[in-house]
Amino acid sequence: MGIVLIGVQWGDEGKGKMTDFLADQVDAVVRYQGGANAGHTIVIGRHEYRLNLVPSGILTGKLSIIGNGVVLDPELLLQELGDLQEQGHDPALLKISDAAHVIMPYHKILDAVEDELRGAKRLGTTGRGIGPAYRDKAARWGVRVADLANAGTFSDRIRGAMERVNAVLQHVHDRDPLDPEEVIDTYLQYAEEIQPHICNGPAMINDLLDDGNRVLFEGAQGTMLDVDHGSYPFVTSSNPTSGGACVGAGVAPSRIKEVIGVAKAYVTRVGDGPLPTQMTGDLGEKMRIRGNEYGTATGRPRRCGWLDAVILRHAARLNGLTGLCLTKLDVLSGIEELKIAVAYRHKNRRLEHFPRDPEVLEDLQIEYISLPGWTENISGVRRLADLPEAAQYYVDTVSDLAGVPVNYLSVGPARNQTIECESL
Ligand code: IMP
Repeated sequence: MGIVLIGVQWGDEGKGKMTDFLADQVDAVVRYQGGANAGHTIVIGRHEYRLNLVPSGILTGKLSIIGNGVVLDPELLLQELGDLQEQGHDPALLKISDAAHVIMPYHKILDAVEDELRGAKRLGTTGRGIGPAYRDKAARWGVRVADLANAGTFSDRIRGAMERVNAVLQHVHDRDPLDPEEVIDTYLQYAEEIQPHICNGPAMINDLLDDGNRVLFEGAQGTMLDVDHGSYPFVTSSNPTSGGACVGAGVAPSRIKEVIGVAKAYVTRVGDGPLPTQMTGDLGEKMRIRGNEYGTATGRPRRCGWLDAVILRHAARLNGLTGLCLTKLDVLSGIEELKIAVAYRHKNRRLEHFPRDPEVLEDLQIEYISLPGWTENISGVRRLADLPEAAQYYVDTVSDLAGVPVNYLSVGPARNQTIECESL
Protein backbone atom coordinates (compact mmCIF):
# COMPACT_ATOMS: atom_id res chain seq x y z
CA MET A 1 0.00 0.00 0.00
CA GLY A 2 1.30 3.44 -0.94
CA ILE A 3 0.88 6.48 1.30
CA VAL A 4 1.87 9.91 0.02
CA LEU A 5 2.77 12.66 2.46
CA ILE A 6 2.94 16.13 0.95
CA GLY A 7 3.10 19.78 1.89
CA VAL A 8 -0.02 21.78 1.08
CA GLN A 9 1.46 25.28 1.41
CA TRP A 10 4.86 26.75 0.41
CA GLY A 11 7.00 24.03 1.98
CA ASP A 12 8.37 23.95 5.53
CA GLU A 13 5.06 22.62 6.88
CA GLY A 14 6.80 20.12 9.15
CA LYS A 15 6.78 17.16 6.73
CA GLY A 16 10.11 15.91 8.11
CA LYS A 17 8.71 15.38 11.57
CA MET A 18 5.55 13.73 10.25
CA THR A 19 7.41 11.42 7.85
CA ASP A 20 9.58 10.36 10.74
CA PHE A 21 6.47 9.82 12.89
CA LEU A 22 4.82 7.70 10.18
CA ALA A 23 8.05 5.92 9.25
CA ASP A 24 7.44 3.70 12.29
CA GLN A 25 4.28 2.40 10.64
CA VAL A 26 5.74 1.70 7.18
CA ASP A 27 8.38 -0.55 5.63
CA ALA A 28 10.12 1.89 3.29
CA VAL A 29 10.29 5.63 2.63
CA VAL A 30 10.77 7.10 -0.87
CA ARG A 31 11.72 10.67 -1.88
CA TYR A 32 10.25 11.38 -5.31
CA GLN A 33 11.18 14.94 -6.34
CA GLY A 34 13.30 17.97 -5.57
CA GLY A 35 16.84 17.81 -4.31
CA ALA A 36 19.00 19.44 -1.68
CA ASN A 37 16.75 22.51 -1.81
CA ALA A 38 14.57 20.67 0.72
CA GLY A 39 15.37 20.69 4.40
CA HIS A 40 13.64 18.29 6.73
CA THR A 41 14.19 18.91 10.44
CA ILE A 42 13.57 15.95 12.70
CA VAL A 43 13.98 15.90 16.46
CA ILE A 44 14.53 12.54 18.12
CA GLY A 45 15.30 12.67 21.81
CA ARG A 46 18.09 15.20 22.20
CA HIS A 47 19.23 14.91 18.58
CA GLU A 48 18.13 17.34 15.91
CA TYR A 49 18.67 16.01 12.38
CA ARG A 50 18.56 18.16 9.27
CA LEU A 51 18.14 16.06 6.18
CA ASN A 52 18.35 17.57 2.71
CA LEU A 53 18.37 14.50 0.50
CA VAL A 54 18.26 11.24 2.41
CA PRO A 55 14.68 10.06 3.07
CA SER A 56 13.92 10.28 6.78
CA GLY A 57 13.14 6.53 7.00
CA ILE A 58 16.85 6.00 7.60
CA LEU A 59 16.43 7.37 11.14
CA THR A 60 13.97 4.59 12.02
CA GLY A 61 16.01 1.86 10.32
CA LYS A 62 13.74 1.66 7.26
CA LEU A 63 14.72 1.16 3.64
CA SER A 64 15.13 4.70 2.24
CA ILE A 65 14.93 5.15 -1.51
CA ILE A 66 15.78 8.20 -3.60
CA GLY A 67 13.47 8.00 -6.61
CA ASN A 68 14.09 8.83 -10.25
CA GLY A 69 12.30 12.19 -9.87
CA VAL A 70 14.98 13.58 -7.53
CA VAL A 71 17.94 15.67 -8.71
CA LEU A 72 20.86 14.41 -6.71
CA ASP A 73 23.83 16.43 -5.50
CA PRO A 74 26.41 13.69 -4.82
CA GLU A 75 28.69 15.92 -2.75
CA LEU A 76 25.91 16.89 -0.34
CA LEU A 77 24.46 13.38 -0.32
CA LEU A 78 27.77 11.80 0.70
CA GLN A 79 28.29 14.42 3.42
CA GLU A 80 24.81 13.77 4.78
CA LEU A 81 25.28 10.01 4.63
CA GLY A 82 28.67 10.27 6.39
CA ASP A 83 27.09 12.34 9.19
CA LEU A 84 24.26 9.82 9.57
CA GLN A 85 26.75 6.95 9.74
CA GLU A 86 28.73 8.77 12.47
CA GLN A 87 25.50 9.12 14.43
CA GLY A 88 24.98 5.36 14.25
CA HIS A 89 22.55 5.04 11.32
CA ASP A 90 23.01 2.31 8.73
CA PRO A 91 24.06 3.78 5.34
CA ALA A 92 23.25 0.47 3.60
CA LEU A 93 19.55 1.33 3.98
CA LEU A 94 19.93 4.04 1.36
CA LYS A 95 19.09 3.10 -2.23
CA ILE A 96 19.28 5.46 -5.19
CA SER A 97 17.35 5.03 -8.42
CA ASP A 98 19.69 4.80 -11.39
CA ALA A 99 17.33 7.09 -13.33
CA ALA A 100 17.71 10.03 -10.90
CA HIS A 101 19.50 12.99 -12.43
CA VAL A 102 22.77 14.35 -11.07
CA ILE A 103 23.41 17.96 -10.07
CA MET A 104 26.68 19.18 -11.59
CA PRO A 105 28.76 22.14 -10.35
CA TYR A 106 27.65 24.22 -13.32
CA HIS A 107 23.98 23.80 -12.35
CA LYS A 108 24.67 25.59 -9.06
CA ILE A 109 26.63 28.37 -10.76
CA LEU A 110 23.91 28.89 -13.37
CA ASP A 111 21.19 28.84 -10.68
CA ALA A 112 22.84 31.75 -8.84
CA VAL A 113 23.78 33.72 -11.96
CA GLU A 114 20.35 33.39 -13.57
CA ASP A 115 18.45 34.40 -10.44
CA GLU A 116 20.70 37.44 -10.12
CA LEU A 117 19.92 38.28 -13.74
CA ARG A 118 16.21 38.50 -12.89
CA GLY A 119 16.99 41.53 -10.71
CA ALA A 120 13.92 42.73 -8.80
CA LYS A 121 11.94 39.82 -10.24
CA ARG A 122 14.28 37.22 -8.72
CA LEU A 123 12.75 33.99 -7.44
CA GLY A 124 15.02 33.72 -4.43
CA THR A 125 16.03 30.15 -5.24
CA THR A 126 18.03 28.09 -2.78
CA GLY A 127 21.01 28.18 -5.15
CA ARG A 128 21.27 24.38 -5.08
CA GLY A 129 21.15 24.02 -8.88
CA ILE A 130 17.59 22.67 -8.97
CA GLY A 131 16.15 24.65 -11.90
CA PRO A 132 19.13 24.19 -14.26
CA ALA A 133 19.30 20.43 -13.45
CA TYR A 134 15.61 19.87 -14.24
CA ARG A 135 16.02 22.02 -17.35
CA ASP A 136 18.86 19.77 -18.55
CA LYS A 137 16.72 16.72 -17.79
CA ALA A 138 13.85 18.03 -19.94
CA ALA A 139 16.24 19.20 -22.68
CA ARG A 140 17.94 15.78 -22.68
CA TRP A 141 21.36 17.14 -21.68
CA GLY A 142 21.11 15.60 -18.23
CA VAL A 143 23.47 13.15 -16.53
CA ARG A 144 21.81 10.28 -14.71
CA VAL A 145 23.04 8.20 -11.79
CA ALA A 146 23.29 5.25 -14.21
CA ASP A 147 25.81 7.23 -16.30
CA LEU A 148 28.18 7.42 -13.32
CA ALA A 149 28.73 3.66 -13.54
CA ASN A 150 30.66 3.88 -16.78
CA ALA A 151 33.72 6.15 -16.61
CA GLY A 152 34.11 6.36 -20.40
CA THR A 153 30.50 7.25 -21.23
CA PHE A 154 30.31 9.62 -18.25
CA SER A 155 33.48 11.50 -19.26
CA ASP A 156 32.28 11.88 -22.86
CA ARG A 157 28.91 13.19 -21.72
CA ILE A 158 30.50 15.72 -19.39
CA ARG A 159 32.97 16.96 -21.99
CA GLY A 160 30.07 17.45 -24.43
CA ALA A 161 27.80 19.14 -21.91
CA MET A 162 30.56 21.41 -20.61
CA GLU A 163 31.51 22.68 -24.02
CA ARG A 164 28.01 24.14 -24.20
CA VAL A 165 27.92 25.27 -20.55
CA ASN A 166 31.34 26.93 -20.69
CA ALA A 167 30.30 28.87 -23.80
CA VAL A 168 27.24 30.14 -21.92
CA LEU A 169 29.25 30.98 -18.80
CA GLN A 170 31.88 32.89 -20.77
CA HIS A 171 29.93 34.56 -23.51
CA VAL A 172 26.53 35.13 -21.90
CA HIS A 173 27.40 35.62 -18.24
CA ASP A 174 31.00 36.81 -18.49
CA ARG A 175 32.19 34.16 -16.02
CA ASP A 176 35.25 31.91 -15.93
CA PRO A 177 34.83 28.52 -17.60
CA LEU A 178 35.08 25.31 -15.54
CA ASP A 179 37.69 22.65 -16.19
CA PRO A 180 35.85 19.53 -17.43
CA GLU A 181 38.67 17.17 -16.39
CA GLU A 182 38.51 18.43 -12.80
CA VAL A 183 34.75 17.91 -12.74
CA ILE A 184 35.11 14.42 -14.23
CA ASP A 185 37.77 13.40 -11.65
CA THR A 186 35.68 14.64 -8.72
CA TYR A 187 32.49 12.97 -9.94
CA LEU A 188 34.18 9.65 -10.67
CA GLN A 189 35.28 9.60 -7.03
CA TYR A 190 31.70 10.27 -5.92
CA ALA A 191 30.58 7.53 -8.32
CA GLU A 192 32.69 4.95 -6.51
CA GLU A 193 31.10 5.82 -3.17
CA ILE A 194 27.58 5.96 -4.57
CA GLN A 195 27.87 2.69 -6.53
CA PRO A 196 26.77 0.31 -3.73
CA HIS A 197 23.55 2.28 -3.25
CA ILE A 198 22.39 2.28 -6.87
CA CYS A 199 19.25 0.32 -7.73
CA ASN A 200 16.45 0.12 -10.28
CA GLY A 201 14.05 2.36 -8.33
CA PRO A 202 10.68 1.49 -9.90
CA ALA A 203 11.48 -2.24 -9.84
CA MET A 204 12.46 -2.14 -6.17
CA ILE A 205 9.48 -0.02 -5.10
CA ASN A 206 6.91 -2.03 -7.07
CA ASP A 207 8.35 -5.28 -5.70
CA LEU A 208 7.94 -3.90 -2.18
CA LEU A 209 4.31 -3.00 -2.90
CA ASP A 210 3.64 -6.38 -4.58
CA ASP A 211 4.90 -8.10 -1.44
CA GLY A 212 2.35 -6.26 0.70
CA ASN A 213 4.71 -3.68 2.22
CA ARG A 214 3.61 -0.18 3.23
CA VAL A 215 5.60 2.43 1.35
CA LEU A 216 5.61 6.09 2.35
CA PHE A 217 6.25 8.59 -0.46
CA GLU A 218 7.80 11.65 1.15
CA GLY A 219 7.21 14.90 -0.72
CA ALA A 220 9.58 17.85 -0.52
CA GLN A 221 8.54 21.54 -0.82
CA GLY A 222 4.76 22.00 -1.12
CA THR A 223 1.74 22.29 -3.40
CA MET A 224 2.14 26.06 -3.89
CA LEU A 225 5.74 25.52 -5.05
CA ASP A 226 4.66 22.96 -7.69
CA VAL A 227 5.92 23.98 -11.14
CA ASP A 228 2.46 23.32 -12.66
CA HIS A 229 0.08 24.08 -9.81
CA GLY A 230 1.90 26.57 -7.59
CA SER A 231 2.36 30.34 -7.69
CA TYR A 232 4.33 30.25 -10.97
CA PRO A 233 6.98 31.53 -11.66
CA PHE A 234 7.73 31.68 -7.92
CA VAL A 235 7.91 27.90 -7.64
CA THR A 236 10.45 25.12 -7.66
CA SER A 237 11.10 23.09 -10.81
CA SER A 238 9.44 19.80 -9.83
CA ASN A 239 6.00 18.44 -8.91
CA PRO A 240 5.61 18.10 -5.13
CA THR A 241 1.88 17.32 -5.61
CA SER A 242 0.72 13.72 -5.12
CA GLY A 243 0.78 12.96 -8.87
CA GLY A 244 4.50 13.68 -8.75
CA ALA A 245 4.92 10.64 -6.50
CA CYS A 246 3.77 8.34 -9.32
CA VAL A 247 6.11 9.82 -11.92
CA GLY A 248 9.01 10.45 -9.55
CA ALA A 249 9.01 6.97 -8.04
CA GLY A 250 7.67 4.92 -10.96
CA VAL A 251 4.42 3.64 -9.46
CA ALA A 252 0.87 3.68 -10.83
CA PRO A 253 -1.79 5.99 -9.32
CA SER A 254 -3.78 2.90 -8.30
CA ARG A 255 -0.96 2.04 -5.85
CA ILE A 256 -1.65 5.15 -3.76
CA LYS A 257 -4.24 4.53 -1.05
CA GLU A 258 -3.73 7.50 1.27
CA VAL A 259 -2.64 11.07 0.66
CA ILE A 260 -1.80 13.00 3.81
CA GLY A 261 -1.45 16.76 3.46
CA VAL A 262 0.72 18.54 5.97
CA ALA A 263 -0.35 22.11 6.72
CA LYS A 264 1.11 24.51 9.21
CA ALA A 265 -1.56 26.09 11.47
CA TYR A 266 -0.55 29.38 9.80
CA VAL A 267 1.47 29.89 6.58
CA THR A 268 5.09 30.74 5.87
CA ARG A 269 7.10 31.35 2.76
CA VAL A 270 10.85 31.51 2.24
CA GLY A 271 12.10 33.13 -0.96
CA ASP A 272 10.21 35.60 -3.10
CA GLY A 273 6.68 35.48 -4.50
CA PRO A 274 3.11 36.15 -3.40
CA LEU A 275 1.88 35.36 0.11
CA PRO A 276 -1.68 36.79 0.14
CA THR A 277 -2.28 36.41 3.89
CA GLN A 278 1.09 37.80 4.97
CA MET A 279 0.88 39.31 8.47
CA THR A 280 1.76 42.94 8.70
CA GLY A 281 3.30 44.94 11.52
CA ASP A 282 4.76 43.35 14.65
CA LEU A 283 2.72 40.19 14.44
CA GLY A 284 4.63 38.79 11.45
CA GLU A 285 7.95 39.30 13.23
CA LYS A 286 6.54 37.84 16.46
CA MET A 287 5.36 34.71 14.63
CA ARG A 288 8.74 34.28 12.98
CA ILE A 289 10.44 34.31 16.36
CA ARG A 290 7.84 32.13 18.14
CA GLY A 291 7.79 29.58 15.31
CA ASN A 292 11.57 29.80 14.68
CA GLU A 293 10.76 30.45 11.04
CA TYR A 294 14.11 30.30 9.28
CA GLY A 295 14.78 28.10 6.20
CA THR A 296 16.46 24.74 6.95
CA ALA A 297 18.40 24.64 3.67
CA THR A 298 19.53 28.28 3.58
CA GLY A 299 18.82 29.85 7.00
CA ARG A 300 16.82 32.66 5.36
CA PRO A 301 13.98 34.21 7.40
CA ARG A 302 10.50 33.04 6.39
CA ARG A 303 7.57 35.42 5.94
CA CYS A 304 4.55 34.49 8.08
CA GLY A 305 0.83 34.79 7.41
CA TRP A 306 -2.62 33.63 8.52
CA LEU A 307 -3.85 30.22 7.49
CA ASP A 308 -5.27 30.36 3.98
CA ALA A 309 -8.26 28.13 3.20
CA VAL A 310 -8.19 29.13 -0.49
CA ILE A 311 -4.94 27.23 -0.95
CA LEU A 312 -6.06 24.47 1.44
CA ARG A 313 -9.06 23.75 -0.79
CA HIS A 314 -6.84 23.93 -3.90
CA ALA A 315 -4.42 21.44 -2.33
CA ALA A 316 -7.19 19.13 -1.09
CA ARG A 317 -8.54 18.77 -4.61
CA LEU A 318 -5.34 18.62 -6.58
CA ASN A 319 -3.73 16.06 -4.32
CA GLY A 320 -6.86 14.08 -3.44
CA LEU A 321 -6.12 14.52 0.25
CA THR A 322 -7.54 11.76 2.43
CA GLY A 323 -6.30 13.36 5.63
CA LEU A 324 -4.64 16.44 7.02
CA CYS A 325 -1.92 16.90 9.54
CA LEU A 326 -1.93 20.32 11.17
CA THR A 327 1.46 21.29 12.57
CA LYS A 328 2.78 24.00 14.90
CA LEU A 329 -0.61 24.49 16.54
CA ASP A 330 1.28 25.34 19.75
CA VAL A 331 2.77 28.44 18.08
CA LEU A 332 -0.71 30.02 17.96
CA SER A 333 -1.11 29.95 21.78
CA GLY A 334 -1.45 33.42 23.25
CA ILE A 335 -2.81 35.18 20.15
CA GLU A 336 -6.11 36.76 21.18
CA GLU A 337 -7.85 36.72 17.81
CA LEU A 338 -7.01 34.21 15.08
CA LYS A 339 -7.85 34.69 11.41
CA ILE A 340 -8.32 32.32 8.51
CA ALA A 341 -8.67 33.50 4.90
CA VAL A 342 -11.74 32.02 3.23
CA ALA A 343 -11.71 33.87 -0.11
CA TYR A 344 -9.91 36.64 -1.99
CA ARG A 345 -11.42 39.73 -3.58
CA HIS A 346 -10.21 41.65 -6.62
CA LYS A 347 -12.05 44.81 -7.74
CA ASN A 348 -15.25 43.70 -6.00
CA ARG A 349 -15.08 40.23 -7.51
CA ARG A 350 -14.97 37.33 -5.04
CA LEU A 351 -12.29 34.79 -5.96
CA GLU A 352 -12.42 31.30 -4.54
CA HIS A 353 -9.34 30.06 -6.40
CA PHE A 354 -5.72 31.17 -6.35
CA PRO A 355 -5.39 33.65 -9.26
CA ARG A 356 -2.87 33.03 -12.03
CA ASP A 357 -2.63 36.65 -13.20
CA PRO A 358 0.26 38.40 -11.38
CA GLU A 359 -1.53 41.76 -11.65
CA VAL A 360 -4.56 40.34 -9.86
CA LEU A 361 -2.28 38.85 -7.21
CA GLU A 362 -0.75 42.25 -6.58
CA ASP A 363 -4.14 43.78 -5.86
CA LEU A 364 -5.98 41.31 -3.65
CA GLN A 365 -8.18 41.94 -0.67
CA ILE A 366 -8.54 39.03 1.68
CA GLU A 367 -11.81 37.85 3.21
CA TYR A 368 -11.06 36.50 6.70
CA ILE A 369 -13.10 34.81 9.38
CA SER A 370 -12.14 35.47 13.01
CA LEU A 371 -11.79 32.80 15.63
CA PRO A 372 -11.13 33.08 19.35
CA GLY A 373 -7.57 32.32 20.48
CA TRP A 374 -6.41 30.46 23.57
CA THR A 375 -3.77 31.29 26.15
CA GLU A 376 -2.76 27.83 27.43
CA ASN A 377 0.58 26.26 26.51
CA ILE A 378 -0.55 23.17 24.59
CA SER A 379 2.84 21.63 23.86
CA GLY A 380 2.26 18.94 26.52
CA VAL A 381 -1.22 17.94 25.33
CA ARG A 382 -1.48 14.42 23.82
CA ARG A 383 -5.25 13.98 23.36
CA LEU A 384 -7.60 16.02 21.22
CA ALA A 385 -10.13 16.25 24.05
CA ASP A 386 -7.50 17.85 26.32
CA LEU A 387 -6.94 20.81 24.02
CA PRO A 388 -8.57 24.11 25.03
CA GLU A 389 -12.03 24.48 23.50
CA ALA A 390 -10.89 27.32 21.23
CA ALA A 391 -8.04 25.17 19.84
CA GLN A 392 -10.47 22.31 19.14
CA TYR A 393 -12.76 24.78 17.40
CA TYR A 394 -9.83 26.04 15.30
CA VAL A 395 -8.97 22.48 14.21
CA ASP A 396 -12.63 21.67 13.39
CA THR A 397 -12.92 24.85 11.35
CA VAL A 398 -9.79 24.03 9.34
CA SER A 399 -11.12 20.54 8.64
CA ASP A 400 -14.52 21.93 7.53
CA LEU A 401 -12.95 24.56 5.29
CA ALA A 402 -10.61 22.04 3.65
CA GLY A 403 -13.27 19.34 3.46
CA VAL A 404 -10.72 16.84 4.79
CA PRO A 405 -10.51 15.14 8.21
CA VAL A 406 -7.59 16.08 10.44
CA ASN A 407 -5.65 12.90 11.26
CA TYR A 408 -2.77 14.38 13.24
CA LEU A 409 -1.92 17.50 15.19
CA SER A 410 1.63 18.49 15.99
CA VAL A 411 2.21 20.60 19.11
CA GLY A 412 6.02 20.64 19.16
CA PRO A 413 9.06 19.37 17.28
CA ALA A 414 9.54 16.10 19.20
CA ARG A 415 8.13 12.81 17.94
CA ASN A 416 5.86 12.42 20.97
CA GLN A 417 4.43 15.94 20.65
CA THR A 418 1.83 14.56 18.27
CA ILE A 419 -1.89 14.06 18.75
CA GLU A 420 -3.42 11.23 16.72
CA CYS A 421 -6.98 12.23 15.90
CA GLU A 422 -7.75 9.39 13.51
CA SER A 423 -5.07 6.85 12.73
CA LEU A 424 -4.50 5.53 9.21
P1 IMP B 1 14.61 26.30 -5.92
O1 IMP B 1 13.79 25.10 -5.60
O2 IMP B 1 15.94 26.31 -5.19
O3 IMP B 1 14.74 26.53 -7.38
O4 IMP B 1 13.82 27.59 -5.35
C1 IMP B 1 12.58 28.03 -5.88
C2 IMP B 1 11.66 28.56 -4.77
O5 IMP B 1 11.25 27.47 -3.95
C3 IMP B 1 12.34 29.56 -3.84
O6 IMP B 1 11.36 30.50 -3.43
C4 IMP B 1 12.76 28.71 -2.65
O7 IMP B 1 12.88 29.47 -1.48
C5 IMP B 1 11.59 27.75 -2.58
N1 IMP B 1 11.95 26.45 -1.97
C6 IMP B 1 12.68 25.45 -2.51
N2 IMP B 1 12.78 24.41 -1.66
C7 IMP B 1 12.10 24.75 -0.57
C8 IMP B 1 11.79 24.07 0.66
O8 IMP B 1 12.18 22.93 0.90
N3 IMP B 1 11.03 24.77 1.55
C9 IMP B 1 10.55 26.02 1.29
N4 IMP B 1 10.80 26.68 0.17
C10 IMP B 1 11.56 26.05 -0.76
